[in-house]
Amino acid sequence: MPSNKWKKRVMKTKGFLCRACSYLLLRYTRWNAGRLRKDIAGRRVDKIHAGCGLVLLKGWLNILYEPKQEYGKLKDINGALVLNYNLLKPWPMEDNSVSFIAASHLIEHLDLNHGIRFLKEGHRVLKPGGTIRLSCPDLEIYARNYVTGNMEFFENKLIKEWCAFPQAKTPGEILAAKAYDSGGAHKWFYDFDSLKHVLKTAGFQDVKRCRRLEGEVPELDALELPERELETLYVEAMK
Ligand SMILES: C[S@@+](CC[C@H](N)C(=O)[O-])C[C@H]1O[C@@H](n2cnc3c(N)ncnc32)[C@H](O)[C@@H]1O
Repeated sequence: MPSNKWKKRVMKTKGFLCRACSYLLLRYTRWNAGRLRKDIAGRRVDKIHAGCGLVLLKGWLNILYEPKQEYGKLKDINGALVLNYNLLKPWPMEDNSVSFIAASHLIEHLDLNHGIRFLKEGHRVLKPGGTIRLSCPDLEIYARNYVTGNMEFFENKLIKEWCAFPQAKTPGEILAAKAYDSGGAHKWFYDFDSLKHVLKTAGFQDVKRCRRLEGEVPELDALELPERELETLYVEAMK
């Protein structure tokens, strides 16, 4: 009888090989990219939830990017369609194929050039008249609270707790920490004007600042976590 230790080792190796194969095959063969594209077209995906994290919505294609997990394969997780895919690569969807794209707290994880690349792909796959909704930490909210010395904001449990640098204590330190938050995962910091500028650069029109839960995109109550409202900029734009 193989020991538990041995079984674990085999499972680990199998998992690793499986992830490595799917990742390498999708990255390096056109055939696999084509297969994924076909799979998604076959599912008639109409709503993309980009950067979903743990928020998996039924009826949407939920996309996240976890480099160490199995890559480029559609999965059904408790009835929600999920894909591990790097959205800085060409998106595996046809032109003009979806009605809505929502990305909550994703765009700050991309630098300015990558943000524009991401939005250009979003623009390509949206149908004319389709809507994109973005939310992210608002540079203006942070800057205003910094300039007015509003300690209540910077001492808010969530603003402090969600800061990846526990030694950051002063408003200046917390503001700077937000720009490099999640262990360096944050790569940019937008206010409304700069987000509007990149959306327009990518081809979008009618860029509007919204309130949380207000807009054209459906299921905002599931997409937008209430605890993030205090620091968040919400924007919608149309193709
Ligand atoms: C802070 S989480 C946001 C999770 C959730 N939307 C929320 O509002 O709490 C950022 C998400 O963006 C995803 N992400 C970061 N870079 C990405 C990329 N290049 N392509 C696809 N997803 C990416 C991460 O995998 C993660 O799911």
